[in-house]
Amino acid sequence: MDWKKDFIWGTATSSYQIEGAAYEDGKGLSVWDVFTKESGRIYEDHTGEVACDHYHRMKEDVALLAELGVGAYRFSVSWPRVMPHGTGEVNEKGLQFYSDLVDELLRHHITPYVTLFHWDFPNELEMQGGWLNPSSPEWFASYTEIVANAFGDRVKYYITFNEPQIFTWLGYDTCTHAPGIKYPAGRILAMCRNIALAHGMSVMKLRELVPDCRVGYAPTCGNAYWPVEETKILAAKAKELQNSFGSDDWIRSSAFWNELFLKGRFHEKCRDLFGTDLPELTDKERLLIGQPLDFCGMNIYQGTSVSFSDTGELVIGKLPVGHGKTGIGWPITPKAMYWAVKNFYDTYHLPLYITENGMSALDVISLDGQVYDPCRIDYLARHLSELKRAVSDGAEVEGYFIWSFLDNFEWDKGYDDRFGIVYVDYETQRRIPKDSFYWYQNVIKSE
Ligand code: BGC
Repeated sequence: MDWKKDFIWGTATSSYQIEGAAYEDGKGLSVWDVFTKESGRIYEDHTGEVACDHYHRMKEDVALLAELGVGAYRFSVSWPRVMPHGTGEVNEKGLQFYSDLVDELLRHHITPYVTLFHWDFPNELEMQGGWLNPSSPEWFASYTEIVANAFGDRVKYYITFNEPQIFTWLGYDTCTHAPGIKYPAGRILAMCRNIALAHGMSVMKLRELVPDCRVGYAPTCGNAYWPVEETKILAAKAKELQNSFGSDDWIRSSAFWNELFLKGRFHEKCRDLFGTDLPELTDKERLLIGQPLDFCGMNIYQGTSVSFSDTGELVIGKLPVGHGKTGIGWPITPKAMYWAVKNFYDTYHLPLYITENGMSALDVISLDGQVYDPCRIDYLARHLSELKRAVSDGAEVEGYFIWSFLDNFEWDKGYDDRFGIVYVDYETQRRIPKDSFYWYQNVIKSE
């Protein structure tokens, strides 16, 4: 079977990673503006103050998207750019930037996919307890209302949260991401409850204000399990692991978040794992959180292998010595794409988009001025072919977004890792499409 008719080919970015203009035109501070100022937090103390300067180069960047030929562009709105204090006052100039971006995309026949939250939380709200504050779901709903009223006439695709796994885990457990405050599991669980309520209230607002919208969320599948040999036993084990978790990996598992966001309940393992630390959800709250979504996003980069040892025992996560890895050090595991999609679809039967897939590489500008990235092309081609296999096996996949359009600020890794299909020379802000850009251009034309 082939891609679905009208399959969406796209690419993605997020606000803090590309925009820059951190203090301009009335923008408020985000937790990332503050966190990156603490020396030692980020690789070589890089910050997103300027990033790809996309705020000032938006038209040039959209022209490049048009040259690429994508049908859709996924970007996120910076909450403190449109609401400097997180609640109350609205920053018209910030809204205007996104409104202009949307118009520019539509002028080029590119459909905007808006992520409401890709981690740049308003710092003023963090100072009030952030996602632990019982008012946080209402804060998020009011912010959704501002965005929906401003762009709802032109933007029909929304993603409420990007990877709730990552900003909770890295932000409040490992503390390698903003705001970098260590909380015990009980507090993080309370936070998860509020985030889930925020998601539910946001979906309700979107349905009310943009009745013809399509809405979903975008978890990461970092723990996507895949059977090295595709035997029944290994496949079943991979599915079981995918839909489960233990006390040390619950926060980053897709099972925890999918049960919460898609079914409106804490995963059945939670009561045993957390006892009285597990927050309660009333029936009303469950319905609010678990209201039907139009699609689910999946951000897939890598997965964990399930194999047999020489003596026939099941082994998790062992790859051959010297197995290929990306610039950031993640193993290259294309089969994870097939199995994550298949296992997700078999469990939830919800149409999905691959909202992120891509790799960082040690890209350089060659003597002839070009950027050759054969390993990225190979990575993308392998993942696309595994995705197609999942489609052939019945998964309803609506579209695919490469992460990322531009090299950008890779969170705690600063500018050290390059994920883009367009190279950014941060000294001059010159954009150089890499070979993978032209390869993708061809895929879009020919698939
Ligand atoms: C995030 C992106 C990030 C990418 C590569 C995803 O977890 O959504 O913001 O740049 O992975 O690390």
